[in-house]
Amino acid sequence: MVKLSIIGTGTWGIALANMLCMTGHDVMAWSALPDEIDYIQKYRKHPKLGDTKILEGISLTKELKEAVEGRDVIVFAVPSNFVRSTAARVAEFIQPDQIIVDVAKGIEPHTLFTMSEIIEEEINKVKPFDYGQIVALSGPTHAEEVSIGKPSTIVSACVNEKNAKTVQEAFMAPFMRVYTNSDIKGVELSAALKNIVALAAGICHGLGFGDNATAALITRGVAEVSTLGISMGCSTHTFYGLAGMGDMIVTCTSQHSRNNRCGTYIGQGYPVKEAIEKVGMVVEGINALDAAYELSVKYNVELPIIRSVYDVVKFGLSPKDAVKKIYARESKEELPFSVLEAMHENLNEPKKSMPKIKRVITYGTFDLLHYGHINLLRRAKAMGDYLVVALSTDEFATLEKGKPCYFNYEERKMLLESMRYVDLVIPEENWDQKSKDCQLYQIDTLVMGEDWKGKFDDLKEEGINVIYLPRTPEISTSQIKEDLHN
Ligand code: CTP
Repeated sequence: MVKLSIIGTGTWGIALANMLCMTGHDVMAWSALPDEIDYIQKYRKHPKLGDTKILEGISLTKELKEAVEGRDVIVFAVPSNFVRSTAARVAEFIQPDQIIVDVAKGIEPHTLFTMSEIIEEEINKVKPFDYGQIVALSGPTHAEEVSIGKPSTIVSACVNEKNAKTVQEAFMAPFMRVYTNSDIKGVELSAALKNIVALAAGICHGLGFGDNATAALITRGVAEVSTLGISMGCSTHTFYGLAGMGDMIVTCTSQHSRNNRCGTYIGQGYPVKEAIEKVGMVVEGINALDAAYELSVKYNVELPIIRSVYDVVKFGLSPKDAVKKIYARESKEELPFSVLEAMHENLNEPKKSMPKIKRVITYGTFDLLHYGHINLLRRAKAMGDYLVVALSTDEFATLEKGKPCYFNYEERKMLLESMRYVDLVIPEENWDQKSKDCQLYQIDTLVMGEDWKGKFDDLKEEGINVIYLPRTPEISTSQIKEDLHN
């Protein structure tokens, strides 16, 4: 039995509380609004969940301290724009061994933080709290169905596998299957952005379009979100999983979705403000628009569906004109980068016919992989869509660089290949291969640490963008070796 507290008594919080109580856990619910607690206490019902009974076993409290102290798992089930203030209040009581599960979906404008990143930041202002203690729970799960025990699936995403599994075990029920995923960023990004695509699906519905349009929006919506996510370092597979494709389908097709409903009203001609009022609950897709727009600018990724919704909601573009604009876009290839990645997975030889994406290359020894290397690879990947790492062979490292390695080439290659930022590892065997590599792999940008500043500028003449990034201070393989030796 796990001791859980649900922070927030909205429909999803209550549906989860019922499910967890039903499977034998000790469940407590807290709300920032004392009236909500009084209402539940009195009627044991939620105004938006019909006749569904709120189980007697769920204890209720108006004291946040009581809801947090001594509990194993704290579930954040508040609207996304209250996650920061809630985390700030919870920080005082939380302990390092407790797990926070976030079920709110959104990206914060300006900081562009996901919900888990906000929680981490707020708690760390008060006391150290490990990011691996925060789990994002997301998937195709309408509260209306879960609350009455209809079969559903969900993803428990966390960088700490053990905590992802703890939450998986706790939330499993006869009608709920939980899968784990270590790509929390991909899961949270999917959760936030799919709401905007659902607004678009609703708008199309409101305009009287049919199933073809819905199917197109779902498919191109996933392609859009995955293109952005991959350029942010997330895993392709997440976007085609339950939290990605799964949640996209359910949100775009179900009238349980507030985003879909709000979109339908907009498509029918209601002004945005009125459409939101008619839904009568938080419409997260509207809240996510600013952040989505900022992300597309920051990562230089075109998001045509999301951009159209943005123009309709923020600038009053008529839904009909938004559709006309989408159809007037220049013609495109369908093949997304993710397919290219899959195509490449088992290829030793690069394909000459690869579609146009931005490719980045970097060179290095990467022995005793450390956070300085990871920082470099993360930034290198963010400069394009596809990162090739040319890894010094054992002979090259020893004979030419004078740096014999602790791990051999195959071991270093395996470590790099398991990193989400790295798409392909090739051998670096001599100093003069760079120009040939850049041609063969159709490279746009060569990225190196600043210790190599100026050394490869001659490649600029071949049209390659050469960038030297600042090194991460105070860490290097040589330093690690020296410290261990001492
Ligand atoms: N790098 C970095 N920051 C660090 C260490 C390395 O950005 N603190 C970068 C390097 O500039 C290089 C890449 O990571 O572009 C691979 O570096 P490599 O020489 O393999 O790692 P070092 O830790 O610098 O190794 P050594 O101490 O043996 O030189």
